[in-house]
Amino acid sequence: MPLPDWAPDDIDPEIPSSARVYDYILGGVHHLDSDRRLAQQITALAPDVPRSGRANRAFLRRAVTHLVTEAGITQFLDLGSGIPTVGNVHEVVHTHNPDAHVVYVDIDPVAIAMSRRMLADTPAATAVRGDFSAIDAVLADPEVTALIDFDRPVAVLAVALLHFMPDAVHPADTLARLRAAMAPGSYLVLSHAGNEGPPEQMSATLELYRRTPTPMVLRSRAEIAALLDGFDLVDPGLVYLSQWRPDPGDVVEVRAFDGYAGIGHLPAASTPQ
Ligand SMILES: C[S@@+](CC[C@H](N)C(=O)[O-])C[C@H]1O[C@@H](n2cnc3c(N)ncnc32)[C@H](O)[C@@H]1O
Repeated sequence: MPLPDWAPDDIDPEIPSSARVYDYILGGVHHLDSDRRLAQQITALAPDVPRSGRANRAFLRRAVTHLVTEAGITQFLDLGSGIPTVGNVHEVVHTHNPDAHVVYVDIDPVAIAMSRRMLADTPAATAVRGDFSAIDAVLADPEVTALIDFDRPVAVLAVALLHFMPDAVHPADTLARLRAAMAPGSYLVLSHAGNEGPPEQMSATLELYRRTPTPMVLRSRAEIAALLDGFDLVDPGLVYLSQWRPDPGDVVEVRAFDGYAGIGHLPAASTPQ
């Protein structure tokens, strides 16, 4: 079957991708039959997954709004940014500050192709293909450094990303490198799937994700909290997605597969007396 015109030529349509599965789950249009089949198998086993995906996007929107409006952040590095969908980070940011800079980074070729197409007329934002595990290359990428000045506070987003990073690739070490590159006053926004759902649903979901190039790993709250080491947690701390500063009228409910969400703040270096 020919690839749709939006798909880069170098993808294998038979291998589902987590980015395109997530696009399907969120009701997007940039996925293939293999992604749809996998997403349908996942949601048949774990019917709360789409709701959890929407709760994650809502957290992302609230977190970014907080950072641009209340924390005064003017530059955002969105790691594992995904395929563009409703409420993209640069759209949320530019509603409040049209001059703020946004860089999207993702390992998935469709995510980057779609993002670059969307941003063709938006000089304050760009999208770069990159691997979180090779963070030094990401931080040195000329397209990243053209928009992000690491000598000034930056918000780094790792939203629904780190559950694709098994311990074997040492995500904590990568986060430490990132932290070292971030100026005092910077923020790390994190959400991560927890491991407290029904065990049979969780193991079946993990098994299905093994068919993608980015298998999933679920972590406990304590393990997720450890990923924010070195940062001060912004109120209300590391909580379930819908519990993080809900908007007035939001329904705050926790269901199977709801992950954890939090924002870490890198304190300003203390001045020796
Ligand atoms: C569930 S989506 C999250 C998208 C967006 N951050 C959100 O929360 O709505 C996870 C994304 O992480 C990307 N990803 C997985 N492994 C990655 C890696 N090693 N480096 C960069 N991106 C990665 C996937 O391609 C996918 O687009």
